[in-house]
Amino acid sequence: MPPIINAQGISKAFGANPLFQNVSFTVSEGDRIGLIGPNGSGKSTLLRILAGTEVPDDGEVAFRKRLRVSYVEQESKFESGATVRSVAENALENAKVHQTERGTRFAETLGRAGFEDLEARAAALSGGWQKRLAIVEALVQAPDILLLDEPTNHLDLAGIEWLEGLLEEATFASVIVSHDRYFLENVATDMAELSRVYPDGMLRVPAHGSNTIKMSVHSSTIGTTTVRLQLVTQDGSPLSWTAQPLSVEVTRFGRLVLIIIGGALGILVLTSAYRLRRKRLAGASSGGSAEETAEGGGTG
Ligand SMILES: Nc1ncnc2c1ncn2[C@@H]1O[C@H](COP(=O)(O)OP(=O)(O)O)[C@@H](O)[C@H]1O
Ligand SMILES: [Mg+2]
Repeated sequence: MPPIINAQGISKAFGANPLFQNVSFTVSEGDRIGLIGPNGSGKSTLLRILAGTEVPDDGEVAFRKRLRVSYVEQESKFESGATVRSVAENALENAKVHQTERGTRFAETLGRAGFEDLEARAAALSGGWQKRLAIVEALVQAPDILLLDEPTNHLDLAGIEWLEGLLEEATFASVIVSHDRYFLENVATDMAELSRVYPDGMLRVPAHGSNTIKMSVHSSTIGTTTVRLQLVTQDGSPLSWTAQPLSVEVTRFGRLVLIIIGGALGILVLTSAYRLRRKRLAGASSGGSAEETAEGGGTG
């Protein structure tokens, strides 16, 4: 299936400072992409380009026909005098949602979000409830894709869990800028890092990898001692060292990895396939051999 948004070779600069150059980024149905990167790398700008509110200096962005994009900015602002009810109703109106659908969508979305007082003034809500309202405003438009810029900054734990649940159950795709790694690990199907350290300006990998990853052991004293290893995901590039590596199959259950090498069982807790791959690439670009350290868990 063609992507719903396809950005190819896009560049953006403000004045003399290029934010990113020749970056390509696609969003397909079912994607929940965690967008990360250093401060100032252009994440918010990229999100606005995907929202269509900003255009790149160079490159092409193609949107699927009649695509409905909802974008929740980092800071919510509401008109003075706006209430919870009016924000949701205006959003339904602006999105030209059919009259017959409005009632249900309004009630369901606000209900699930936990709003009880619909006449409360939006500007008087706490930061967390303003964020919920901004997300409700986006949701009632029944987007095909939801773009969220740092949504968890103002949310409390209950709010974060609400957002996780709705993203996980959503039929729409999403791109979420966040520094909250736990949140992204819970919701993202893919991770994309915008950073100049990557030759393509961006690194994108599946968030959880596959259940089985190929692993080669560089120096293997397994037991209670440290294992240095190089990981190669299924789409990974060839190993870089010359010594004959000992290849093993590794079974992965979420973040828990069972390694069996020469009858010894090792247990490795991964942060994520993404971080391992990132380490590997960072190692490759600095000329060193990339490695991940596994500690403990070994039994003979
Ligand atoms: N409209 C703008 N005009 C001028 N400079 C901008 C504009 N938008 C962003 N920038 C600059 O680009 C830099 C990166 O922007 P941003 O996309 O917000 O990065 P990030 O979200 O990754 O932190 C910022 O440091 C900011 O100074
Ligand atoms: Mg930003």
